[in-house]
Amino acid sequence: MTASFDYSGYRVLVTGGSNGIGLAIARAFREAGAKVAITGTRADARDYGEDLAGFAYRRVQMEEAGEVDGLIAATGALDVLVNNAGTAIRAPDAFTPEGFARNIEINLNSVYRLCLGLRERLTARPGSIVNIASMTSYVSSPRVPGYGASKAAILQLTKTLGALYAPDRIRVNAIAPGWVETNLTTGVQAAPELSDPIVARTPMDRWGKPEEMAGTALYLASDQLAGFVTGVTIPVDGGFSSN
Ligand SMILES: NC(=O)c1ccc[n+]([C@@H]2O[C@H](COP(=O)([O-])OP(=O)(O)OC[C@H]3O[C@@H](n4cnc5c(N)ncnc54)[C@H](OP(=O)(O)O)[C@@H]3O)[C@@H](O)[C@H]2O)c1
Repeated sequence: MTASFDYSGYRVLVTGGSNGIGLAIARAFREAGAKVAITGTRADARDYGEDLAGFAYRRVQMEEAGEVDGLIAATGALDVLVNNAGTAIRAPDAFTPEGFARNIEINLNSVYRLCLGLRERLTARPGSIVNIASMTSYVSSPRVPGYGASKAAILQLTKTLGALYAPDRIRVNAIAPGWVETNLTTGVQAAPELSDPIVARTPMDRWGKPEEMAGTALYLASDQLAGFVTGVTIPVDGGFSSN
């Protein structure tokens, strides 16, 4: 799949690369020749069932500003930053101000902190930031209000940073995945009353796979292919958002 991309010599950081969409994106960059660093919430890369050998690994809780700052301090020159780490704070906490704020901290504030802190690190060659938005960037998310608010803001922040960082030759774009089979969505996958309406609204009539997000990340990060693309969010959703 990644045979046509050449990221040899590129340094890529994928937050939340220990699982799901982030891991698929991290693997695709590595297969294309990049040196890839990832983060996760566990102490050690060997604490995961997945084989993470071959990635530089660091534990970072995105709700801890000090840990995010530690990641920034530990990161050298960078070519691509993929802001993928994220979660959904669910009921009952989802409906408290504290749970809402925590979801914003994890999914949004940490992204801004990383974009700000790594800006100068991304200027060695035309740099690229790829954020991960969501269908809830566009539609309501009544079960997880903080999650939806954070993802809507990611879409807006992507536009703003696209404009703000353009003079530095850093492009900022996002992917809005449709419904993808990962740990984050196991509960929804297992509940037909939640999953069936999703599949029914998806013209391609199925859930997406993490690997299906990777090609768009590699495209967006490519200065050769996407050198005039900034500030946009691309849905990769089997048609969900068009239906
Ligand atoms: N799956 C979908 O349908 C879907 C749709 C739209 C958008 N997204 C977005 O895609 C991104 C990846 O999600 P995924 O579906 O691949 O879920 P996932 O498999 O659960 O992976 C989430 C990643 O983020 C990390 N993470 C979770 N909470 C964190 C925290 N508080 N601090 C630091 N890292 C944290 C996880 O670390 P551990 O591995 O240690 O848990 C993992 O690496 C998220 O931003 C999510 O919102 C997913």
